[in-house]
Amino acid sequence: MQIKGRTFVVSGGASGLGRACVLDICKAGGNAAILDMNEELGNALVKELGASATFVVCDVADTDSVAAAVKATVDWVKKTGKPFGGIIPAAGVGRPGLILDRQNQPVSLEAVDFVLNINLRGTLDLVRQVLPHLATTTPYGPDGERGVIIMVASSAAFEGQMGQVAYAASKGAVASMTLPMARDLSRFGIRVVTVAPSMFDSAMTAGMSDKVKTGLKKAMEFPARAGKPEEFSSLVIQAIENVMLNGVVIRLDGATRMPSKLQVIH
Ligand SMILES: NC(=O)c1ccc[n+]([C@@H]2O[C@H](COP(=O)([O-])OP(=O)(O)OC[C@H]3O[C@@H](n4cnc5c(N)ncnc54)[C@H](O)[C@@H]3O)[C@@H](O)[C@H]2O)c1
Repeated sequence: MQIKGRTFVVSGGASGLGRACVLDICKAGGNAAILDMNEELGNALVKELGASATFVVCDVADTDSVAAAVKATVDWVKKTGKPFGGIIPAAGVGRPGLILDRQNQPVSLEAVDFVLNINLRGTLDLVRQVLPHLATTTPYGPDGERGVIIMVASSAAFEGQMGQVAYAASKGAVASMTLPMARDLSRFGIRVVTVAPSMFDSAMTAGMSDKVKTGLKKAMEFPARAGKPEEFSSLVIQAIENVMLNGVVIRLDGATRMPSKLQVIH
């Protein structure tokens, strides 16, 4: 899919991995609609990027909020004349909790719902609500492409750690949606790719203790460091541009396999 002259919807685009995607899309001549709850960061990013970006406040866990944000984005696309090219639902949260703690208390459903509603339902709902607009764009190039959806899973989809039952459930589900979604959308010329990162530098991981960070380093192969947001977005750019990438979950982890016992939040 060509980036230049197209609009990409990025949830969670105000910070971390989503923000890196917004920066790279705009650098490549595309437009980015940043849908996020963090108004301060979102507005600051638009100030930095100028006319190629817009910020729309959105809670992906609230379907009315998603509907309003999609409407505002559609209006913006009409104004700029740059058709939709893809969706990157990168908004996500972690809330660690053992399924059963030492006091014999099971994890609260409120904590489970919080994670599932944002990471899974929010991903699916944003994709669902933007799709009718993406699917009605004029097909592009010799293959008749209409766009690409790039979802964000995690190493936890495969090796959830202690305390990550809800998070792993949400990310495993995102990974599992990839192929059926690609199959559903092939008739429209829309591809689906999911990236599953290990630990990356972002606001989400900034709060981790030194003990956890050092412990995680031991589990890393090469390079023995957290990934950088721009290393994530560089794969996203490739996934947008390479038409043969479809229906696949790509691990981006430097061969790290998460161990059991370090409780991390991502
Ligand atoms: N950083 C990592 O190590 C790592 C690893 C694996 C997967 N991930 C995934 O990458 C994605 C991006 O995370 P990040 O590391 O950039 O974190 P981050 O905290 O820097 O960014 C997440 C963004 O999502 C936004 N957000 C949170 N809840 C929202 C909601 N309900 N509606 C709209 N926006 C909301 C936040 O405001 C924030 O701007 C998440 O899905 C996360 O699970 C991150």
